[in-house]
Amino acid sequence: MDDIRISKIGLGTWLLGGDVKANINNNDEKDLNAIKYAIKNGINHIDTSESYSGGKSEILIGQSIKCFERNKIFIATKVREWNLSYDKLILSCMKSLKRLDTNYIDLYYVHKQNKAIPIEETCKALNYLLEKGFIKNVGLSNVGIETIEKFNLLLDKQVYAVQNQYNLICRESQVKGIIEYCRKNNIKFICWRPILLSYPGVSDPMYKKGTYPVLDEMAKKYHVSNVQVVAKWLLQQDNVYIIFKSNNIKHIQEILETQNFNLSRKDWQILNYNFPIQFDRGCASNEFYEVS
Ligand SMILES: NC(=O)c1ccc[n+]([C@@H]2O[C@H](COP(=O)([O-])OP(=O)(O)OC[C@H]3O[C@@H](n4cnc5c(N)ncnc54)[C@H](OP(=O)(O)O)[C@@H]3O)[C@@H](O)[C@H]2O)c1
Repeated sequence: MDDIRISKIGLGTWLLGGDVKANINNNDEKDLNAIKYAIKNGINHIDTSESYSGGKSEILIGQSIKCFERNKIFIATKVREWNLSYDKLILSCMKSLKRLDTNYIDLYYVHKQNKAIPIEETCKALNYLLEKGFIKNVGLSNVGIETIEKFNLLLDKQVYAVQNQYNLICRESQVKGIIEYCRKNNIKFICWRPILLSYPGVSDPMYKKGTYPVLDEMAKKYHVSNVQVVAKWLLQQDNVYIIFKSNNIKHIQEILETQNFNLSRKDWQILNYNFPIQFDRGCASNEFYEVS
């Protein structure tokens, strides 16, 4: 079970079922079909959190995976920073298991750090869950190297994955050497928000045609869309995995089609070095996140 090969392309589920709360008018059928479509087409890695749509995202995943063999699917969920004390963390995990309707979670992330709770206490709870088989692996999200090392000293099983924001614009993990560190230490690097920022009513046009000429030119050259170039730039990096959100089957198809082309080494580097990186987009890793 631990050896399941996770697909480089994973499905994120933020905004499935609602946003911070469940949406009673949500089109559940559309969300369920999207998850099933993704799995049928080779995406075995599904990402969620206890907080997405107030837990509804986990419920939708639980319902979608019923028609597949459980051991062929890799479910990642997260415990929020306000639930990192020993008792709360274990309770959170039990609730996620119930919503996901499964008896184990493949990858259990600490969503963000919380200065008020000692890492020792959090790791004690994670070690308990590992020992009992409720979780198969531990991940960390929104972290830097120092935090990864602290967790690794205290966990009974090495950190399996780090999930930070990383895309053509937001390069903090690249600049700080986190991606390289993960590669050298056999920790999977999972990018959240690989494509664009989207929130109800707010859609960021950063990858739409006409915004970045270098991207438009690349898309034209390879006869693909801007989004496909953006995803491919990430996917061609060793040990880099993406989780993109979509409940639109055409969009899922489009991301899967990135498997049909490769950027040349030179073009990959043109994007790497000539893309206007923005450091003020709120993509800082939340290593020093304070929880009130
Ligand atoms: N660890 C963390 O703190 C953290 C934070 C944020 C997100 N995440 C995880 O990362 C996942 C991805 O991040 P994200 O949801 O913020 O952003 P994202 O996946 O980069 O972008 C999602 C947006 O892209 C659109 N999209 C997807 N495929 C497309 C395509 N082929 N063409 C055009 N638009 C397309 C989606 O719309 P449609 O649905 O209409 O396709 C949605 O509006 C989340 O779902 C979540 O699981 C983790």
